[in-house]
Amino acid sequence: MADEDSAKGRPARARAAGNRRRYARLAPLYDLLDRPFERHYRPGRARIGAAAVGVTLEVGAGTGKNFPYYGSAARVYASDLAGPMVLRARRRQGRPVRALLIAEAAALPVRRASADTVVATFVCCVQADPRPALAEMARVLVPGGRALCLDYTVPSHPMLRLLMRLLQGPLRLLYGIHWEHDVPRLLEAVGLRIREVRRIWGPAVRYIAAEQSATHD
Ligand SMILES: C[S@@+](CC[C@H](N)C(=O)[O-])C[C@H]1O[C@@H](n2cnc3c(N)ncnc32)[C@H](O)[C@@H]1O
Repeated sequence: MADEDSAKGRPARARAAGNRRRYARLAPLYDLLDRPFERHYRPGRARIGAAAVGVTLEVGAGTGKNFPYYGSAARVYASDLAGPMVLRARRRQGRPVRALLIAEAAALPVRRASADTVVATFVCCVQADPRPALAEMARVLVPGGRALCLDYTVPSHPMLRLLMRLLQGPLRLLYGIHWEHDVPRLLEAVGLRIREVRRIWGPAVRYIAAEQSATHD
């Protein structure tokens, strides 16, 4: 996996600080900028909301776009790196969402094996190296717990690949976009078993459900 930032010797903490500043700045505009795409994401958010059960930890929750989709089977604790995004999320905080916290996805203030479900939507695609965050998600899952992701991936079709490569440059400046990750493979690499991969918006946006092993304690 390409990791330009670490190739330049930039430590993970500095990358997280970069995203914190970026999303603190973007917070007032985030929902507006995202509006044209949101209808394409909705089926993925609905699927995640329906699948989330028990103690549910959402990482990189942003302005709380997933909150309306959680059902009463989930007790949601939502986190994000950027304080201003968390403040925006508060406006969407309904009953299943018990608490909001500021936390980095790669250093969650949560005990090992304490969440039945972890959720990350469009969080891998804004990180140069999402592996530490995914490892942390696996750590906090109970045996048999589920990681539910919605994320971009570069499709195999050459024209779409080219288009996404061209768009990635300007979008990286704005959102810190990294579309190059193969999220199912990365989830497997942190020890989770892929249960479902489903197209949500063309071949680029996918819903991925992965399961922690029964022996994880
Ligand atoms: C593209 S937005 C997605 C927001 C939301 N999950 C959604 O689906 O609309 C990415 C979010 O991840 C957060 N984020 C980026 N890097 C993070 C990190 N290392 N730890 C926790 N959150 C992070 C950003 O602050 C931002 O809110």
